[in-house]
Amino acid sequence: MNAAAIRHLISTHDLTDAELTSLVERGAGFADGTIYPSDQLAGLVVGILFLKTSTRTRTSFSTAALRLGAQIVSYGPNDLQTNTGESLSDTAEVLSRMLDMLVVRTSGDPADLRTLAGQQRMAVVNAMTADEHPTQAVADLTTLLRHFGHVDGLRICYVGEGNNTAAALALTLSRFKGVHLELRTPPGYGLEPAILSSAVENAANSGATVTELHTMDSAPAGFDAFYTTRWQTTGTIKPDPHWRDAFTPFQVTSALWDKSPEAVFLHDLPAHRGEDVTTEVLEGPHSLAFDQAENKMYAAMAVLEWCAGRLRSDGSSGTA
Ligand code: CP
Repeated sequence: MNAAAIRHLISTHDLTDAELTSLVERGAGFADGTIYPSDQLAGLVVGILFLKTSTRTRTSFSTAALRLGAQIVSYGPNDLQTNTGESLSDTAEVLSRMLDMLVVRTSGDPADLRTLAGQQRMAVVNAMTADEHPTQAVADLTTLLRHFGHVDGLRICYVGEGNNTAAALALTLSRFKGVHLELRTPPGYGLEPAILSSAVENAANSGATVTELHTMDSAPAGFDAFYTTRWQTTGTIKPDPHWRDAFTPFQVTSALWDKSPEAVFLHDLPAHRGEDVTTEVLEGPHSLAFDQAENKMYAAMAVLEWCAGRLRSDGSSGTA
């Protein structure tokens, strides 16, 4: 692919505010049927490299590529010669001569994705690293835009671990004017301080607010959405054998709706009923969790277009 055209999406920091907004709007357009998937990525080949388990993200990027006319090559954790000692930079150099884009999930060093991006031909997409899950955030904001018609001004309460999903959510929501994001994270399992600082800085620039509390003693009130995540983030292990004691008060139950009766419920999934959320909430009338999962495919379409240089900064399709 033309080196000038490719763009990597390894962190939400790789997106300008305008680019983030156009990805979210484009995702919503695909989801709502106002933009029709046809041959936007015709002639391209997308590598799908998942070194950790995935149901949604792997399938969403695979189907997004196929629906937009690209072809895919899939690799699991045991497939590449990196397992026998070939360097990541040599691997990237070789793959970039055959693939146009590479979608990668790893629980290894997040810097590995920058190594993979150290060539000039192949766009690299972060499909989840330990520090960030940027394409999940694009899908989450697409879900909010579709439901509310806007992201600006929304009041979102995130309940659960300050993991990679929370990081990407905080780094993106904080860029939208008037958003209030309140994170309720278990003590010792909050956002990385650098991520929280970055989100607070974004918020200062956009007119949003971001706060983090480590208690559920005071009930969150007046929110448009509650968001939670699994207690055991993919690819991670909690060293403290008693970690569940810290998480138990943070289970999302219907009691949260007492002071926010109209709020919707979001979950990046997979959910563990009876741990992070009750079945009543997950399957209840406020839940958008399964629409949110579907929106990952529409968001992936927008991300692949952008990484291929086929999404203009005004959000329209074509060579950037
Ligand atoms: N939410 C998410 O990333 O799901 P998968 O782990 O199934 O891809």
